[in-house]
Amino acid sequence: MNKMLTEQDFIFKNNSEDMPEKGSFTWKTPSNIALVKYWGKRDPQLPENPSISFTLDACFTMTTLEFNKSSLVQDDKEINFDVFFEDEKKDDFKPKIQRFFQRIKQYVPFITDYDFVIRSRNSFPHSSGIASSASGMSALALCIMSLEKELSENMTETFFHKKSSFLARLGSGSASRSIDGELVVWGNHNDIQGSNDLYGIKFPSIIHDNFKNYHDTILLVDKGEKQVSSTVGHDLMHGHPFAEKRFEQAHQNLSELNEILQNGDLKKFINIVESEALTLHAMMLTSNPYFILMKPNTLSIINKIWEFRAQTNSNICFTLDAGANVHVLYPESEKKLVNNFIVSELIKYCQNNHYICDRVGLGAKQFE
Ligand code: PMV
Repeated sequence: MNKMLTEQDFIFKNNSEDMPEKGSFTWKTPSNIALVKYWGKRDPQLPENPSISFTLDACFTMTTLEFNKSSLVQDDKEINFDVFFEDEKKDDFKPKIQRFFQRIKQYVPFITDYDFVIRSRNSFPHSSGIASSASGMSALALCIMSLEKELSENMTETFFHKKSSFLARLGSGSASRSIDGELVVWGNHNDIQGSNDLYGIKFPSIIHDNFKNYHDTILLVDKGEKQVSSTVGHDLMHGHPFAEKRFEQAHQNLSELNEILQNGDLKKFINIVESEALTLHAMMLTSNPYFILMKPNTLSIINKIWEFRAQTNSNICFTLDAGANVHVLYPESEKKLVNNFIVSELIKYCQNNHYICDRVGLGAKQFE
């Protein structure tokens, strides 16, 4: 079932004359939070180490792609499109999307035959410090794959998912993990069958009940624009003094997490997940130029979580992405206990007391 596909397999070959004139597709795709982090890449958007993430549920992007057969012969020119975000025309979003189209064109050459209108909205506030590239790019990739499906009669669901993830990856690495639920691995790892650098796969083993319906309450510590983009951060791993050790460590952590996700050992889970979060930020602190994305309140929250865990033996833990916000992770069985703690002790560290209650989700969904 998990036959590994190569780059060649993703090149669209059907030369059908029978192309739809116009239409639209809509996909709702989730954000994800990495447990073992992807930090460091090489061309073309291939990860230096494997990563794994929980797919989220409440944080999502909803994108409609309208397509219209173009009257112009477009040859090698740029793809013609307009983009609207929350009903507002957003020309400043265009360069990133144009780059994405140019990167994927060799795999979906039919996109040059169309003019597009992209209409997108996020469930989370735009300036919340939550990266929208994973959900945004995966939604767009899925819409394009829906169009490819119209042109290819016998496309299997498995191929559809793999190529969607493959295309999404070319938009934003972590977007490759936003197609499927509930746990997705991206990047080649010896212990995980089918894992590879080209696209994300659903975690192939049975997940222990302890990790079913896992919660992620996102504490919005700083909603401002990040001072350093993840593109710059990834680049700083080239020639980073600790890069090789870090990549090795990610392999090791994923080996251990692979076992833990199956045997349900929550204490070991906490240890790996928190260490991964701090290591990600340690890489930023020790790059050149160095930078800090955590804020004083990020550290206050972490210390509070550690105190609470020591007092109650709860299995609450935290992770971070490339920003100041804190993702508070906990099992379904501790929902009440941890929610009370968050509301009484942690919300005060959030900007305007804002936080988002999320949990593990099942992956992208198409809307008619
Ligand atoms: O997908 P990018 O290029 O924005 O990189 C995301 C990197 C992290 O969010 C920090 C970690 C990860 O694995 O998602």
